[in-house]
Amino acid sequence: MFYARKIFSGSLSRNSCRSFCLTRISCSNTKGLILGVFEKAQEDDVLQFTEAGEAFDKSLSGKLRELLSYGPAMKKGKTRVFCGLHQDFPNIAVVGLGKKSSGVCSLELLDEGKENIRTAVSVGCRQLQSLEIPSVEVDPCGDPQSAAEGAVLGLFEYDELKEKKKTAVTVQPFRSTENEAWQKGVMYAEGQNLARRLMETPANLMTPTIFADKIQQKLSSLSGKVQVHIRAKSWIEEQKMGAFLSVAKGSDEAPIFLEIHYNGSNNSNEDPLIFVGKGITFDSGGISLKPSSGMDAMRADMGGAATVCSAILTAAALHIPLNIKGLAPLCENMPNGKANKPGDVVKAKNGKTIQVDNTDAEGRLILADALCYAHTFNPKVIVNAATLTGAMDVALGSAATGVFTNSDWLWTHLQQASIVTGDRVWRMPLFQHYTKQVAESQLADLNNVGKHAKSGGACTAAAFLKEFVTVPHWAHLDIAGVMSNKDEIAHLGKGMSGRPTRTLVELADRLSQDKQIM
Ligand code: BES
Ligand code: ZN
Ligand code: ZN
Repeated sequence: MFYARKIFSGSLSRNSCRSFCLTRISCSNTKGLILGVFEKAQEDDVLQFTEAGEAFDKSLSGKLRELLSYGPAMKKGKTRVFCGLHQDFPNIAVVGLGKKSSGVCSLELLDEGKENIRTAVSVGCRQLQSLEIPSVEVDPCGDPQSAAEGAVLGLFEYDELKEKKKTAVTVQPFRSTENEAWQKGVMYAEGQNLARRLMETPANLMTPTIFADKIQQKLSSLSGKVQVHIRAKSWIEEQKMGAFLSVAKGSDEAPIFLEIHYNGSNNSNEDPLIFVGKGITFDSGGISLKPSSGMDAMRADMGGAATVCSAILTAAALHIPLNIKGLAPLCENMPNGKANKPGDVVKAKNGKTIQVDNTDAEGRLILADALCYAHTFNPKVIVNAATLTGAMDVALGSAATGVFTNSDWLWTHLQQASIVTGDRVWRMPLFQHYTKQVAESQLADLNNVGKHAKSGGACTAAAFLKEFVTVPHWAHLDIAGVMSNKDEIAHLGKGMSGRPTRTLVELADRLSQDKQIM
């Protein structure tokens, strides 16, 4: 008879598995298995495994079910680890998936079934990682893409700069024939992890030049379908991007305008989807200097650039049949002797003049020129992402990205995409009410802050960007509120979130299938 015993529930402590193991099977720490189990609808119901779990338990003559019955009910997101129960898998983490009936909730605007799988698998993976198990097989839980996303997102760790690193864990699906869906999940999550890594990296190690080089290097394996142009200051000057240059000149670090062209459509002449991302590699506020507390987080003020570039990389790796261009104005916002001063007037690429009353509202200045440039490609759709305003965080927190759009069609696609990915969006207004507040300026055509600066800051910022848009399908995503994660999103650890990379990829995928407009 084999012995196995629960070693602990739920906690992520670094207890050694071996020390707790009462077993005759050699309990080497090499291989782990994650199995999902649904919540009982009623107390007296029988425990419900997933399909893979059920088959596995049968091969153990019901031993796992028996052991689980001795402990408390398996709640959503909780884990229990069993050691020494199976020859091939010395360590088995059973994870709670919540109710089997979970699906799309119209109030939460979320597919709760998928989100529960991401959470459960990520918790299980982290648990086995804490036991220093380097190889883990994962129950696909009936949705291999979500399971893979949970595993890869859950195991992400930014420890490049530390001597002591967490155990590197490889994951693969357990007895699954749906490898394509698993692989898609891995790629979606790796895309988001790339954005997280770019955002987390300290600003001294992620300058505009380094950012552009990293993206070029990442795209080099896809060189057939992807071209990268790293535009230097002289090019930016030729383009007459006066608003972008006015921000960049406040720093000793050279600006870059990064341009990615992915030709995925069968028709290489097809008008593109354009992603534009704010790429402030550090936002000190400039002369309107930010308070020092928390300023370190402004290394992630290139989150727009990071998420759109990562999304295009992922779309290209998945061969999404669409032409996509990515544009990222990259610079620092710093207060040197040449920096913008409050009251300065600068001229954007389209000739509009802007009074810079607050140098900390720099994102809209660099995006104004990038949006003008985007129009030169005759795009069908423009989507920009930017950590644009603290006011966005005040409005929605990290629950959802705020979306300001002039297109109901684009909004529907974005919302549907976000319900599936779980990385949600919420529509915000683009009223003339806000336009009036930025269009009234003492010295110029526009002011970079609203007349009533303290109210509706996310909306006046969006209204400002709208002044540089003429296409009928445009969306501005203010991602300031979702930039970082404490503990709100269970499958993401603490740190920069890389949100909403997966929603952008899913959007591109859905647009590629909508032949009416695309
Ligand atoms: N990068 C910030 C916005 C931000 C704040 C992003 C918090 C992520 C977390 C942006 O450049 C900024 O400073 N905006 C100002 C605008 C204001 C001066 C009108 C802000 O939100 O305070
Ligand atoms: Zn700022
Ligand atoms: Zn900023």
